[in-house]
Amino acid sequence: MEQSDQQPLWWQSGVIYQIYPRSFRDSDGNGTGDLAGVIEKLDYLSDALGVDALWLSPFYPSPMADFGYDVADYCAVDPLFGDLDTFDRLLAGAHERDMRVIIDFVPNHSSDQHLWFVESRSSRDNPKRDWYIWADAKPDGALPNNWLSIFGGPAWQWDEATGQYYLHTFLTEQPDLNWHNPQVRTAMLDALRFWLARGVDGFRIDAIHCVMKDRELRDNPPNTEGIQLIHRPQPEYDSQLHVYDYATDELHGVLREIRGVLDEFVATGPWVGIGEIHVFDWPKWASYYGQQLDELHLPFNFGLLGIEWDAASVRELVVEMERVIPPGGWPNYVLGNHDEPRIASRIGPEQARVAMMLLLTLRGTPTIYNGDELGMFDVPVPLDAVQDPWGQHTGTMGRDPERSPMLWNASPSAGFTTPDVTPWLPIEDGYELLNVEAQLADQTSMLTLTRRLLSLRRASRALTTGGYQPVDGVPDDCFIWERISGADRYLIALNFASQPRTLAFPAHPSGTIVLSTHLDRDGEELLTTFELRPHEGCVIHVVPL
Ligand code: GLC
Repeated sequence: MEQSDQQPLWWQSGVIYQIYPRSFRDSDGNGTGDLAGVIEKLDYLSDALGVDALWLSPFYPSPMADFGYDVADYCAVDPLFGDLDTFDRLLAGAHERDMRVIIDFVPNHSSDQHLWFVESRSSRDNPKRDWYIWADAKPDGALPNNWLSIFGGPAWQWDEATGQYYLHTFLTEQPDLNWHNPQVRTAMLDALRFWLARGVDGFRIDAIHCVMKDRELRDNPPNTEGIQLIHRPQPEYDSQLHVYDYATDELHGVLREIRGVLDEFVATGPWVGIGEIHVFDWPKWASYYGQQLDELHLPFNFGLLGIEWDAASVRELVVEMERVIPPGGWPNYVLGNHDEPRIASRIGPEQARVAMMLLLTLRGTPTIYNGDELGMFDVPVPLDAVQDPWGQHTGTMGRDPERSPMLWNASPSAGFTTPDVTPWLPIEDGYELLNVEAQLADQTSMLTLTRRLLSLRRASRALTTGGYQPVDGVPDDCFIWERISGADRYLIALNFASQPRTLAFPAHPSGTIVLSTHLDRDGEELLTTFELRPHEGCVIHVVPL
């Protein structure tokens, strides 16, 4: 598929980097990362690494029941992270370096400490009562319906004072907002306007699939066929088919409204709306681009998190993406985030290199999770010290392991915080070698690979917005494709096996390896056949006739 010659938008050609602010860099020595810490690292992000946009996980005022995904004020900054002035400095600093800033928007629920909810729960006739989803018990005293919380147990919490239940798709501290109420919509869309007017470049929209539940609160039917809703099994939640409380048809209208707000700011755009939309049914997932491409610019594609890590499955996913995305829609790929086990822990450090090459050379916008450029691993925490509320509910480590602090240097706290301060989560063993400073100095490190991939990508039209053409007839365990923009052509060949594989160089007169995941084959000329070593990927510049 050849891409049109239209000038690509920044969120199509660029690479997004997710920052989980709590874990990125602690500037004031309290053990928790903050926005001033991000400012300190802007040069790293723009010059050393070379990413194009930063997505910041929530920094709003919050009681931190879900580490900021429980928002108590949509238009301010929590003192733990800084203040609006710090945010403005971060934004200006990023823009000076030609990087965009995408912020997290959490529409499905607020904190139970948000003044809206405080009012809503104060009495049944409070004007904000209907801003949240309240329901009576059934006549026999049972729960209003069978809906479940994604974090476990029923999604209803009894409120003794007013004698009704309220809905919480996540924690009880995260009551669901009622998007059927026009005042809620106006208030939430105004929060978007607040940040757009401040100059942000877009939003990552949290758990958007949960907005717009059935007005009649009907029971979900049982899931008798064992259909898996998202990319990972969730036995309790998957016991139902979530037809009434998840990714409903009415969600499309909300997405169009959100898009409408972005379009109000078109004169200073373009802006991007990226939706966290966990739907594993790909045609349905793709419907959230909108029939007129008027909903999400990018519904996050979590496919690579759920499939088996082998050449056939990865290729099949890419084929499916190229098939289901509507004409004019733009793909995207993700290897990890603050909710998922780290890629290096899932598939091993050698394949993590192959995965980074895949992510940064496929057709579509890549999002890199902070620390994955170093090949960071999940860091275990003792069960009696788990911080993540979901982990505490389920008696597991929850999402703490993938949220361990960034590794900046070899000092005792890895440069994340002041050396004598205990960070909010443990520092990874082996940080003395894995940290940014050490890896920048090592020409064969994972960070060097990531940096070189990023700079190669940035310099090539083919690798950013060029067409994608899979290559057939290659050994099992290998996935090979071309990226093409006019005479600019690259072949990407990945070996998923722990054995070498020999490949016939496809119908081209010659090519030159410009990058191997092993970082030791630059400039090697290829003629008819070539070998990929175990766990090796290569980007090959194809010399046209
Ligand atoms: C999203 C966030 C996750 C959070 C949840 C509730 O899935 O990524 O971290 O716990 O929404 O807001």
